Amino acid sequence: MLRSPHTKYDRLFVYYFDRLDLPPVDDPDLIGTWVEDDNAILFFHQAREELVQSICAATGATIIYQAELGYRDWEAGTDIGPFATKHLAIRPVWEEGTTAGDGRREIVLDPSVIFGSGFHATTRLCLETLETMLRESGQRIDRVVDLGTGTGLLAIAAARLGAGQVLAVDNNPMACAVARRNVELNDCRDKVTVVQADLHQGLPDLRDQDLVIANLYRGLLLALFAEPKFWTAGNYLISGFTPGMEGELLAALPTDTVRLLHRGGREMWRIWLLRNRNA
Ligand SMILES: C[S@@+](CC[C@H](N)C(=O)[O-])C[C@H]1O[C@@H](n2cnc3c(N)ncnc32)[C@H](O)[C@@H]1O
Repeated sequence: MLRSPHTKYDRLFVYYFDRLDLPPVDDPDLIGTWVEDDNAILFFHQAREELVQSICAATGATIIYQAELGYRDWEAGTDIGPFATKHLAIRPVWEEGTTAGDGRREIVLDPSVIFGSGFHATTRLCLETLETMLRESGQRIDRVVDLGTGTGLLAIAAARLGAGQVLAVDNNPMACAVARRNVELNDCRDKVTVVQADLHQGLPDLRDQDLVIANLYRGLLLALFAEPKFWTAGNYLISGFTPGMEGELLAALPTDTVRLLHRGGREMWRIWLLRNRNA
């Protein structure tokens, strides 16, 4: 995340390690961590050869790929700048001045190199559906859980749109640090709590939750769908899958417990809105 003396992102120095289990790295130049297949990936503001070599020496890891990129390259060539949805105006923290207008509520975001800048189609789909549910449906959505929160954008959006209590969960420590920073930037610590936890190891208590947001990926969604405790909340916003995965996910839905209210999509991504039959 942005730490002094940095005020915005420019170049990205990316290192792919041949393993997942790296120790936590606390470095002012570290701006993102991801895992992909069997590789941990670290992103820095500037080249950090010595640090990376010391991680390799301490862990036995090897660097299998490294690169220098422009910041826009990690979002498929899109510049991360201000954007608006129907009810929200979102601006990166390095953009001065408010972008809110027409009654839109503002969110200030440090995207770092963490999923959830707002430019991915699944994040946008979730934002737009959240807006409809919280601002237009007349439904009472007060308690929200955001599973796989990334930057925290959807959790903060839920709070900005009227939810009273939001729990944001991610297993990536860097994502949690960035999400907490974003909660602070938006002055919503009283509403949004960020917790680091691996959803494969267990779920928060979802009973009494009005809405669960799960913008995740096929494998984790299938694991959650098979868990009866997952289906104890009122409503579900599910995304992170493509049309080709829809049949398998549909077959895994416990249709005696939930019904599918809406199926939508954009680009190659799908979103579902589900409601608990007991809600
Ligand atoms: C597709 S991103 C969604 C980020 C954000 N909610 C958004 O919609 O833009 C999925 C997030 O889930 C997190 N995640 C992946 N596996 C997880 C697990 N087993 N437990 C908790 N979080 C996980 C990732 O770190 C990532 O931040």
